[in-house]
This record gives sequence, structure tokens and C-alpha cells, in this order.
Amino acid sequence: MASIGVFDSGSGGLSVLREIRKILPDERYIYFSDNAYCPYGEKTAEFVTARSRAITDLLLSKGCRAVVVACNTATAAAIAELRLSYDIPFVGMEPAVKPAASGTRSGVVGVLATAGTLKASKYQNTKEQYADAVHIEERVGQGFVELVENLDLESPHAECIVRASLQPLLDAGADTIVLGCTHYPFLLPLMRRITSPDIHFIDPAPAVARRLADVLKMSGIPLTDNNPGVELLSSGPDDTLKKLFKLI
Ligand code: DGL
Repeated sequence: MASIGVFDSGSGGLSVLREIRKILPDERYIYFSDNAYCPYGEKTAEFVTARSRAITDLLLSKGCRAVVVACNTATAAAIAELRLSYDIPFVGMEPAVKPAASGTRSGVVGVLATAGTLKASKYQNTKEQYADAVHIEERVGQGFVELVENLDLESPHAECIVRASLQPLLDAGADTIVLGCTHYPFLLPLMRRITSPDIHFIDPAPAVARRLADVLKMSGIPLTDNNPGVELLSSGPDDTLKKLFKLI
């Protein structure tokens, strides 16, 4: 039975799976949360690449015919090598700087992402392309991944953590903020509550879902399965994964 594999360092990639299932509801998905090794954000590119390969091997052994790297950090560290090593299509996350640069009215774009994503050449090259047109202010969403993995999405403590990284972007004049980590959309209701309605947040997940649909079509991979649904797997305890899955 053919499936589509989706993986992340933790439960964040469920924000991508949510968008994928909106446009491809009849597929069978295997979602892998590597929560025994979460967060990836401060780990070396070599470590994240080794984990990405091990997870891909597992997903292939379970019959996956395509893999979505639903993690910006793993995409930046590993997707080029995965594409060279395996004969299946991979779809990864793109830092959504392009739509942010064309949408900003203030001329300042904020980017929230992990340290691994921000220092990777994939992001640096994208940023360079828009450096003349807009000012890009970036911050690590310090502690955001832990909030999501602890299902602490709305508390005063969560608000304090989120403000600490978001406020400097607002102070710099950003009116458009790119969510460059797949965990962060789970904090979007909180971010909306503490910012003015003029602030526009961009989640690249819907574009990634559309890209997957195109890639599957181009690869000739059958678009319907006789057993649609989602199998959840993880390298550590699965309580958060199961609870967040109910929210998507
Ligand atoms: N959700 C991931 C990302 O998109 C990884 C976060 C982390 O593990 O640090 O970057």
C-alpha cells in the first residue's frame, strides 16, 4: 500500500499535514515525530541530516512513495542530500520571504525561525534576493518549539515567551511576519491576540501542500489510496502528537 511520509523534529509538522489533507484528503499518510531528538534548531546540520536519513529509511520501509520534510530546519540541512540519495520525490519547506516581500506595506518583513534555519545557506540566499527591496528583521522564536511540544499554547507564560521574540520585529516596523518553523503556526492564535490586526502572518504550509499535489501528479504517483488516513509514529512519547493531531 502506497503512503506519503511526513516528518518533523516533533509535532510541528502537523501544521503542514493539516494543509496537505485539505487538498489531498484521500491519501494515506505516515507522520513521524522525531521528538526523542527535538528540538533540531540548535543541533548541527550533520546531526539533523543523519536523523533525516534514518527517518526516510523507516518511511520507505513502511511503503512511502514520497516524503514531505515538514520541518524548515531539516529542509535547510538535509533535503539536497536526501534528493541525491533516494529515488523518491521530496517536498520541503521554503522560507516564505517572497510573498512577504511583495505584501509588506511598511517595507519591513519579520522572519521567525530556528537558529539552524536562519544560518543555513538556503535562507541566506533567499534573503539576499530581497535585501534591496525590503528590510528583513529576523529572530529565533526562542522557546516556541518547547511551548508547542508542551501544549502550552495560550497561557500567560506562553504569551511572555512569544512576546520576547515577536516584539523586536514589531519594534523594527515589520507589518508582515514569516513563520519559518512548522511549530509556530500552533502559536498563531496567541500571536494574533497580542498584535494589531494590521500585522499579517505568513505560513508557507498551504503553498507546500500545493507543491506536493503538483509533484505527485508529475511523478505519476497514484492520487488515491484504498485506505485513507493518518498513521502517527514517534521516536519518543506520543501524548502531544496525539493531542495536537486532534486539533488539526
Ligand atoms: N518544526 C521545525 C522547523 O520547522 C523544527 C523545530 C526544532 O526542532 O527546533 O524548523
